[in-house]
Amino acid sequence: MESTFWYERWKQGQIGFHGLEVNTWLIKYWPHVTKSMENKKVFVPLCGKTLDMLWLQDEGYEVIGCEISPIAVQDFFSHNKLEVSRTIEGEFEVWQSGNITLYCGDFFALKPEQLEGCGIIYDRASLIALPESMRNQYAKHLLRLAQPQKTQILLITLEYDQEKMSGPPFSVSTEQINDYYQQHFTIECLSSKDVLNEAPNFKKRGLTHLTENVLLLS
Ligand SMILES: C[S@@+](CC[C@H](N)C(=O)[O-])C[C@H]1O[C@@H](n2cnc3c(N)ncnc32)[C@H](O)[C@@H]1O
Repeated sequence: MESTFWYERWKQGQIGFHGLEVNTWLIKYWPHVTKSMENKKVFVPLCGKTLDMLWLQDEGYEVIGCEISPIAVQDFFSHNKLEVSRTIEGEFEVWQSGNITLYCGDFFALKPEQLEGCGIIYDRASLIALPESMRNQYAKHLLRLAQPQKTQILLITLEYDQEKMSGPPFSVSTEQINDYYQQHFTIECLSSKDVLNEAPNFKKRGLTHLTENVLLLS
């Protein structure tokens, strides 16, 4: 997906992926993700303006996000009435408030030092935002940014018949996730549930099943 696609989506307000409440899987599984982890720094790739970042901050975590759309970043801070400071760091404009730092720019330009100390990655609708041709590159870059031996990933994906609907969100099978990550992580499925009834728009577009998978990579 080209950056222009996302700029346009944000400009037009076509952001059906944005949850109006904190993600229920995050709330449910966070204690499981963090139970054997001292680390208190979370990276949220392709973060949009998700409220999940506020929740993580309230849980006592430092949050680093990366988002290409300046509209999304601006909205996140203004809608939540957060005072913000802005600096330039290489190709990024860095927006910071409290324990939340958002790198506004291209995920693929991030460097490991910008995520120094992050031990947890929260990927909801990020891997699945990208077409197959970019996902391998995304996973490889994520592995370059993080240190797999010290990192856990909470990954939330969707699986459906890709013939019936074009993405994003794209369908990502568990086989593909294994291809991307199993060399570096043990992959545990925390939940796998058909959520089609909760997604009437996708039903209208012809889907007959829509499985949401919640995975812990450690
Ligand atoms: C499907 S949305 C998911 C947002 C967020 N994870 C959530 O749960 O609401 C994907 C987001 O990735 C952003 N994005 C797409 N390509 C990007 C890139 N190369 N670097 C940074 N952000 C990107 C888009 O602007 C969009 O906000």
